Amino acid sequence: MNRLLLISDSPDLGGHVADAIQSQIALISGPEVPTGPSQLFQQLGPGAPIPLVVVIDTASREDESLGLSARLSAECPGMAVVLLSEQPDAFALSALRAGACDVVHPATPLEELGRVLHRAAQVAHASASAQPVPGDPAISGNADARGRVISVLSPKGGVGKTTVATNLAVGLARSAPLSTVLVDLDVQFGDVASALNMHPDHTLLDVTRGPAARDSMVLKTFLTQHETGLYAVCGPTNPADADAITPADVARLLETLAAEFRYVVVDTAPGLGEHALAALDHTNDLVIMTSLDVPGVRGLRKELDILRDLGLGFDRRHVVINFADTHSGLTKADVEATINAGVDLILPRSRPTAASVNQGVPMLQSEVRDPMTKKLRTLVERFAPAPAGAPGTPAAHSTIAPGGATTNTGRTRRFALPGLKSGRDQNQSTEGGRHRFLRKRVER
Ligand SMILES: Nc1ncnc2c1ncn2[C@@H]1O[C@H](COP(=O)(O)OP(=O)(O)O)[C@@H](O)[C@H]1O
Ligand SMILES: [Mg+2]
Repeated sequence: MNRLLLISDSPDLGGHVADAIQSQIALISGPEVPTGPSQLFQQLGPGAPIPLVVVIDTASREDESLGLSARLSAECPGMAVVLLSEQPDAFALSALRAGACDVVHPATPLEELGRVLHRAAQVAHASASAQPVPGDPAISGNADARGRVISVLSPKGGVGKTTVATNLAVGLARSAPLSTVLVDLDVQFGDVASALNMHPDHTLLDVTRGPAARDSMVLKTFLTQHETGLYAVCGPTNPADADAITPADVARLLETLAAEFRYVVVDTAPGLGEHALAALDHTNDLVIMTSLDVPGVRGLRKELDILRDLGLGFDRRHVVINFADTHSGLTKADVEATINAGVDLILPRSRPTAASVNQGVPMLQSEVRDPMTKKLRTLVERFAPAPAGAPGTPAAHSTIAPGGATTNTGRTRRFALPGLKSGRDQNQSTEGGRHRFLRKRVER
């Protein structure tokens, strides 16, 4: 066993522990105990192997040692903690409560110390192999052993991507607590942290650099946990840091997260920048959005055309229209005719939504009674169907047919092609000259 880390301020202890396992060990020395796993990995430095067993010398810093032990036990499955204490018997109960697998005297004879440390390594191996795999049929009913990556995309900004991504993630976290992660890929001006009222210690930059980029267990300790059980990778605090994040970083991050989490929700910057394109290469479900106005719908049509030309294949696509109200003069049929595809969900303009973003509490967290909350729940159910017997049935999914047209499984889609209107569309188009004018503008 050569993946042992000793945290100790004593100059002699390193040699004793190394002798006990007859192997080299890693050492973090100094008066301070790392406060948590991510600090520990940072102090270990780039390239250092991830420890299997962490031995913490509690001498004169018992509370900090117990704190670190508790966090390692909770956040790093596959790692075992052994505490060294001058009074192991008196310390045993606290050690147990802090998740340590053993507590021994620092001067324990070599042979016995070796046995303790090897037993700890076996515990670490056993707990690593007991970890559930995303998509495990036992957990999700899905035979695919990879989580589902859901990317939220739109040609323009300010159309509600972050609002939808945060609510979707919070909603999914309810069905998969601790197995849902939200990634802010609006690398320059991401505002997931603000929309969830979080103050991250680490951001996208940290998880694509250093030890977190190489090991999924380390990566998990660099995520920010939201009070709903959702994990998040928040955007960098400095827009200039975006330059340091490459499409390859994005690809690696999403693949690692998909191997660890059942749902990976990705919020993006407007348009099809290099980070969004990298995300799309690893996306199962695309949520593509626009606001209900002429420039937005036109942009959506262009973006759908480009995606088709790029030949990007998703399992499913979900077209979402936001800011619907009766004053826009545009209808669902207008949008469908323009984009030549079905609209899957229409979200209403809603005052509580704007307030919820300002407060940093998503609608699906506060469960505020509002038509938007209901619609957002419908969106969540497209990915995590409500349990049988729950009110409402999951909506059917649209899939991308060759050539980019949307087909439906489970219900019939009505296509309203430009210049070829159904009776209902004709009725709508007689609503007045303003409506006809808008529709022409949007189809142009
Ligand atoms: N349906 C809605 N009704 C009212 N305001 C909304 C709605 N959806 C989003 N907003 C507000 O619009 C603004 C932009 O939303 P945001 O999600 O940040 O868009 P994007 O991420 O696409 O730039 C936010 O202030 C948000 O509160
Ligand atoms: Mg945004």
